[in-house]
Amino acid sequence: MSVLLRRVRPYGEGDPVDVLIEDGIITRIEADLDAPSAEVVDGAGAIVLPGFVDLHTHVREPGREDTETIETGSAAAARGGYTAIFAMANTSPVADSVVVTDHVWRRGREVGLVDIHPVGAVTVGLKGTALAEMGTMHAGEAGVRLFSDDGHCVADPLLMRRALEYAAGLGVVVAQHAEEPRLTENAVAHEGATAARLGLTGWPRSAEEAIVARDAILARDAGARVHICHASTAGTVQLLDWAKKQDIAITAEVTPHHLFLDDSRLETYDAVNRVNPPLREASDVAALREALASGVVDCVATDHAPHAEQDKCCEFSQARPGMLGLETALSVVVASMVETGLLDWRGVARVMSERPAEIVGLTDQGRPIAVGEPGTLTVVDPDTRWTVAAQDLASLSANTPFDALELPAVVTTTVLRGRVTHRRTTSEVS
Ligand code: DOR
Repeated sequence: MSVLLRRVRPYGEGDPVDVLIEDGIITRIEADLDAPSAEVVDGAGAIVLPGFVDLHTHVREPGREDTETIETGSAAAARGGYTAIFAMANTSPVADSVVVTDHVWRRGREVGLVDIHPVGAVTVGLKGTALAEMGTMHAGEAGVRLFSDDGHCVADPLLMRRALEYAAGLGVVVAQHAEEPRLTENAVAHEGATAARLGLTGWPRSAEEAIVARDAILARDAGARVHICHASTAGTVQLLDWAKKQDIAITAEVTPHHLFLDDSRLETYDAVNRVNPPLREASDVAALREALASGVVDCVATDHAPHAEQDKCCEFSQARPGMLGLETALSVVVASMVETGLLDWRGVARVMSERPAEIVGLTDQGRPIAVGEPGTLTVVDPDTRWTVAAQDLASLSANTPFDALELPAVVTTTVLRGRVTHRRTTSEVS
């Protein structure tokens, strides 16, 4: 089977070319190719990038299939331009054993729209008291390469030290949800003037920064690789910069929502804006954008967190934290990073695809667009704007803070190893 992407511009550079993919591999990149038997996708001058890789997705299967399944999460990922996602371990049962991690991997392959790599839990049941069998999960069919208790911090410093020591031996990465739990008891919003005025319990920046600093030092001493989930403060950026200058093997992600929204959104008390870590202040947003542009923050990750209506349409302090991200990520990155002049399309490929693949050592994703490389690609129309409609998303849940917002750029086509996994129909754009 072959696919011909007609009139596309790799990385948005140069004149349009045709890209032919045969048996999953790019075999020709030339102007005006002829391939009579190929499935033809006309890009009409659109941009082609390597398929996006998300290091942080909550798929909710097993356990909360009322909010997202591997099938609906895969469809949302393909629509968002993703060709690989990392499914977080806070499912029910928790992905703390090879039975669960291999199940998620196999079910993802069955659906076939996106590579779903399970993230293994660091601690048994995410309870933070005993290490999970990281080696067994790594040795399983899924070959787990990223471990995280995300949703919870591995707060015990000795346990985190041991996890990093094991990870170094296995050659895998520990992704930390950096939150010192004693500093965030009952916290629901960024600690600052807005939360004080609204009567919401504050979540200080120090809760994140204390753990980032601690874990950078623990990773240094263990000779391990640590990845910081959803960096949200200007202070975290400074710590990452310091640690990288010491040659500590630390990497970090930022979410689209932390690049675009600040805590002024909380004025309405709409719980769609409740998320962990919380939306911060405009000065943090500016620092995160600069850090992503400079490489101090390595990549974008969605923290796609579907929730049921009853868990969001309630009092702010009672709502579950988290927001959808897969289907709006590219547009939000374009609005915050490309339209502001901070990133070009090469830069988008770096933060959405190449760096995340490198961090976890994927060798078949985030590759250059070149002959002989995998036909795993995303086509983006940079000139079409669209209005987000929560109910029309492929996700089973609707908790997006971007509902009714007009955003730039649409993903028109996603291709995974030569198979078209998403193709936009005009009805999807309003
Ligand atoms: O807001 C969040 N929601 N942050 C997390 O770390 C976990 C996630 C979830 O699982 O809903």
